[in-house]
Amino acid sequence: MSARLVVLVSGEGTNLQALIEAAQQAEYGARIVAVGSDRPGIKALDRAESHEIPTFTVVTRDYATRMDWDDALTAACQRYEPDLIVLAGFMKLVGAPFLRAFGGRCVNTHPALLPSFPGTHGVRDALEHGAKVSGCTVLIVDDGVDTGPIVAQAAVPVHDDDDEKTLHERIKVAERALLTETVGRMVREGWCVDGRKVRIG
Ligand code: GRF
Repeated sequence: MSARLVVLVSGEGTNLQALIEAAQQAEYGARIVAVGSDRPGIKALDRAESHEIPTFTVVTRDYATRMDWDDALTAACQRYEPDLIVLAGFMKLVGAPFLRAFGGRCVNTHPALLPSFPGTHGVRDALEHGAKVSGCTVLIVDDGVDTGPIVAQAAVPVHDDDDEKTLHERIKVAERALLTETVGRMVREGWCVDGRKVRIG
């Protein structure tokens, strides 16, 4: 039986697209049962809908407090009984209610080699720092900003003439491959987290 994935997105959704395509193969071992967002009208939701994947949107401004929003997001995800939640370009931090429900079985993808350059501007920060190599990280989500245990990483070179866009595009090529491969391995082989160490299989 294939694992149930809920994917959370905030933007273009190219990582989501890569997951959708990977999950179309029965041997991948997972199917996307829903795609959730923190904002309406984004390309990622169109991608899900064009593949007839159920979608939901939970917008922070519709809730009195951040905790209420987090409760609503958690409930929206729980309805789909996910085995694993994938944050694929989801630009909000999840809070305590979400982590109580899904801690240890929620992964995020970050466009830098953590623990360097966490946060929203990982690509820009690596470039401004003068890094010669950057990349992407798949991590288990915890209550910090990109601080969770690292599941997998891939490196890409930084070119002298890169700007944020060109570097991010190069990273995203590696990121899509890393995310789909890592999620597939996790659902097929299982994983365990021992302190900061994550082992697949
Ligand atoms: C990815 O690089 C992700 O790591 C970052 O935002 C980008 C999302 O890209 N947080 P997309 O929406 O999957 O195309």
